[in-house]
Amino acid sequence: MSCGRNKKLKKYYGKVEKIESNNFQETSTKEISGLEDFKNRRLYSNKILGQLSIQNFFSKINHTVFKLHDSMLDIRMNMERFILEALENLKSKESVIVFGAGPCNDIPLELLTENFSQVILVDIDIISTQKAIERLDISLRSKVKIIQMDISGLDELFAKIKRLSSINASVNEIELLLNTYEYKSIELLPEINTKYDLSISSCVATQLVTPYITHILRDNYINDNIYKIITSIARKAAYNHCYLVRKHTKDAGFSIITTDVFEWGYFANNPISLANALPSLPITMNFQEFINIYLNKYRDYMLVGSTILYDINTFFNNVVARGWYWEIENSTLTYRLYMVMGALLKPKPR
Ligand SMILES: C[S@@+](CC[C@H](N)C(=O)[O-])C[C@H]1O[C@@H](n2cnc3c(N)ncnc32)[C@H](O)[C@@H]1O
Repeated sequence: MSCGRNKKLKKYYGKVEKIESNNFQETSTKEISGLEDFKNRRLYSNKILGQLSIQNFFSKINHTVFKLHDSMLDIRMNMERFILEALENLKSKESVIVFGAGPCNDIPLELLTENFSQVILVDIDIISTQKAIERLDISLRSKVKIIQMDISGLDELFAKIKRLSSINASVNEIELLLNTYEYKSIELLPEINTKYDLSISSCVATQLVTPYITHILRDNYINDNIYKIITSIARKAAYNHCYLVRKHTKDAGFSIITTDVFEWGYFANNPISLANALPSLPITMNFQEFINIYLNKYRDYMLVGSTILYDINTFFNNVVARGWYWEIENSTLTYRLYMVMGALLKPKPR
């Protein structure tokens, strides 16, 4: 596998309503199970040692990615395009809310502050968000309000898992806890009791469950069975997140949801199993085709939580969708990229 294709892939961002083709080799997927891929992904998410609080865990990650802001201009432009399309059609521009704002590497903050009277940024880690605001001209900063909040709705579960693992509970106890956990649906969050003209969920759907739970449990506890249960909780969390985004959007407003969907690459010269599984992408594909054909076929290889793409239809009508690649690592040993899908959405009337 050569790094030569990396530059080529970078060019594929932001094509209107299309996922552009690439030159991925079509290979047999028969011998590769979805769990194989999940194991590989755990390898990466377990890089952070210790057992941190959810705030510290994401602060640590965000601290590292904060410096990527300048190199992520391409990615921000994809979001910018959706926002401009929403702005063209919005009558009221009172307020916008961003879920998972973090370091705002994906978010054109200036554009938001210039066009809305109030900008609400929600994240579990607010250190990076505060730093992101400092990039703004001082005259625009007062329009921004930051809310620190765990939007997964799973804080109780996280606390219980943390407690059990800290007392060296058995794998069975952890499995029982995960199995019996009844996922509560999220109501209007107390600090966010408003509806917004524009609501944005920016690559947070895949982050709500798996990264933090695997960080706490690590390989001491995670076996294939436990990972399957975590995956199922993550699917529900993604659904609930979609509901949450809808719930905070005015009927006449718009929403934008972006999510990473597939991870591709190689590590220490071994292809990540997904790289073996991913086929050549068709030249053109609209959002519905992408879901009906592509996602259904390669469902096992989707990033946990990216199933939010299936949930969108329940709450929204799709206006326009685009896919792009986000290269996250490019060294001699490791090459990784995410394929990201984003959509501008019109809330369905309730
Ligand atoms: C992949 S990053 C998104 C990047 C961000 N949109 C940007 O523009 O740089 C995921 C974000 O979700 C946040 N996050 C993860 N779990 C969360 C939770 N349970 N509640 C609130 N925010 C969460 C992380 O802190 C992080 O900022």
